[in-house]
Amino acid sequence: MEGKLICLVLVMAMNVQTPWSSTVDCRREVRCRISYTHRMKAADCFRKEFKEFPKCLPTDIEVLELTYNRIRTITRDDLSKFSYLKFLYLQDNLITELDDDVFSDMDELMTLDISINALRNIPATVFQLPSLKTLYLSQNRNINIIDALEGVKPINSPLTQVDISYTTPKDDVVEFPDFGPMPFLASLNISGNQYYSVKPKHFVGLCRLQKLVTDNVTIDFDTVCDCWTVNKWLMDMEVRFTPFHCSGSRNKCVDITIAEEDLKVFKQCNAVIEEIQRQHKMYQLSVGLIAFFIILLLSITLYFTVFRKHFKNRCCRNKSKKGNAKRESIPANSTLLTNIPKSVPNEYVL
Ligand SMILES: *[C@@H]1O[C@H](CO)[C@@H](O)[C@H](O)[C@H]1NC(C)=O
Ligand SMILES: *[C@@H]1O[C@H](CO)[C@@H](O)[C@H](O)[C@H]1NC(C)=O
Repeated sequence: MEGKLICLVLVMAMNVQTPWSSTVDCRREVRCRISYTHRMKAADCFRKEFKEFPKCLPTDIEVLELTYNRIRTITRDDLSKFSYLKFLYLQDNLITELDDDVFSDMDELMTLDISINALRNIPATVFQLPSLKTLYLSQNRNINIIDALEGVKPINSPLTQVDISYTTPKDDVVEFPDFGPMPFLASLNISGNQYYSVKPKHFVGLCRLQKLVTDNVTIDFDTVCDCWTVNKWLMDMEVRFTPFHCSGSRNKCVDITIAEEDLKVFKQCNAVIEEIQRQHKMYQLSVGLIAFFIILLLSITLYFTVFRKHFKNRCCRNKSKKGNAKRESIPANSTLLTNIPKSVPNEYVL
């Protein structure tokens, strides 16, 4: 009886000590391999049959590989304790829905891969993550990017690479997502999607686009001139892409220039880049100036140290000839010279 009681008290005490143990038994959870890759602490949980988000991982990991598991849902609490997480791979799971705030605490997250899931929505907050550069959403048929973008523009994440291939419903055409200005976007993958009413306005905000991947894409334009205008714009911007097939001759289009309104978006996009370049130049300039002044100060100090020594040697040799003679000629008890020892070092400092 007593033994049982002690046991019970011990178990309770242990529960208090480890916060997860009341709900999760970490001895039972599948172990992930912890290692260091590129000097980052990484947890490799590839193909471990996780049915829910792992609860017992070290919280200081920067890379979390959860590809090929059976995770159905993720909450903000699951993620918020990993405040150093930079790379999160959730490819090939069974995630259908994500809360709007699920990634809200992921200030360090640079790469997010949620491709090959069954997502029907993408949290709008993804597009505001302050460090996010790479976003893979591929193969989530039915993901509604247009609605997600509705509330978040302008996109603040510094995204350089976005993959939305195979995200439109299988047998349906949808509108092309209007991202607005995305000054950092270099690569966009829209393979396997079906879009209608594609217009120049969909590309003008992507002012630094270098590559547009369009394999197996079906694109309809309202007019043949929209098609030619989009092709011309992308070519002028030197984007690597396969020109869209336009269903009529270009000769029919008198004017294939970009509308004033669209050019505004292009200018907004460029303005962001110019501002960053300006700040970068200012930074370089200030670093340069600081370096210059430090070197200047050092040189001055060095110069005077050397100069002082040198001068002292020369002067004192001279002085020892002249000065000593002078001093000798003056009576030692004279009050005239009482301030000489003070004034001489001062001169040297100057
Ligand atoms: C674009 O997406 C397709 C389909 O997901 C993929 O096969 C291809 O490798 C991607 N291309 C690039 C350059 O990312
Ligand atoms: C395009 O679609 C065809 C047929 O569905 C498929 O075989 C091919 O791999 C696809 N190509 C790419 C690059 O996705």
